[in-house]
Amino acid sequence: MSNESSHAHRKDEHVALAQHFYQPEQTNDFDEIRLLHQSLPEMAVSDVHLETQLFGQTIAAPIYINAMTGGSERTKKINGQLAQIAAALRIPMAVGSESIALTEADSQASFSIVRQYNPDGLVFANMSADKTLDQLQTAIDLVQANALQIHLNPIQEAIMPEGQRQFYWLKNLKTYRENLDVPIIAKEVGFGMDQLTISKLVNAGIKYIDVSGKGGTNFAKIENARRPQHDLPYLDNMGLSTVESLLEANEFKKTHFFASGGVRQPLDIVKAWRLGAEMVGMSGTILNLLRQNPVEEVIRILQTWLDQLPLIMTLLGAKNLTELRESDLVLSPKLQSYIQQRELK
Ligand code: FNR
Repeated sequence: MSNESSHAHRKDEHVALAQHFYQPEQTNDFDEIRLLHQSLPEMAVSDVHLETQLFGQTIAAPIYINAMTGGSERTKKINGQLAQIAAALRIPMAVGSESIALTEADSQASFSIVRQYNPDGLVFANMSADKTLDQLQTAIDLVQANALQIHLNPIQEAIMPEGQRQFYWLKNLKTYRENLDVPIIAKEVGFGMDQLTISKLVNAGIKYIDVSGKGGTNFAKIENARRPQHDLPYLDNMGLSTVESLLEANEFKKTHFFASGGVRQPLDIVKAWRLGAEMVGMSGTILNLLRQNPVEEVIRILQTWLDQLPLIMTLLGAKNLTELRESDLVLSPKLQSYIQQRELK
């Protein structure tokens, strides 16, 4: 890949800009939630069970590395590192959008490398909702995927001058679900989802939804920063937070919700579980750790986080996610107002 294409260049820019805008101290809606600790937990940390079954495998805890990248030499290295982390921690990972692999054969190794480092773990393929079944099968095969993420990113597309201008995706999702052998996870890319979007997905038979809300990586900012004219800067604040999206999702009891967007540390993970997320994903936070540390150190830090999760659960008196969801929480007036205005239950 000595002479990289503009598509590959875009992938490098996304990584560079995501890192540029990443602010670990950034407040977000997870800070608008308080979990109530127990002074008498009456349990031991060793009572907490976080091992989870997902897509036929046992994983260490219901967390995952969410979609980021692939397509260039630089992002090949990142995917290799993410795969090492996922394998060491026994958690799932997603690759970034594999569209480029359909048109640029020499980019394929930047995705398939994940199987070199993580031959047996759960890997999610990633594609847009405008592809044919054959194209999706190629994306699945390339990473021997256990599930397929379909990203729904209308705000990002709108800001890109070369982006989609026709947004007829729902019928395709239904076709994918009916014809592909792997589970389909419909995901946003950091703008969240409201009830209407969720109900359309549910009615199309989609059982796994990653609401991926605002609070962390902001693709409006990233796409605006990629060109000097900053085409639609006023869209930088559009979207629902991850917390708001989980409140929107609350009514859909039969759907499996994944949550990502602005998860900064273990307490945010526990808060997302408390709000109903069955799996919690991180992209920006892990990319930022990799920017600052060698991969072995990132594994060590994330292993520490995995060890801290049972501690937090114990403080809340919860041995598992079912018990956690019964624990009390206090929402800020801002979130209370959101619930009232949206007439959410
Ligand atoms: C992303 N994200 C993303 N999502 C997707 O479905 N396909 C993709 O190709 C990408 N590309 C991508 C690149 C980079 C550098 C980042 C940081 C993120 C979005 C990602 O999966 C997630 O939905 C959002 O980033 C929100 O989560 P965080 O970053 O706030 O944890």
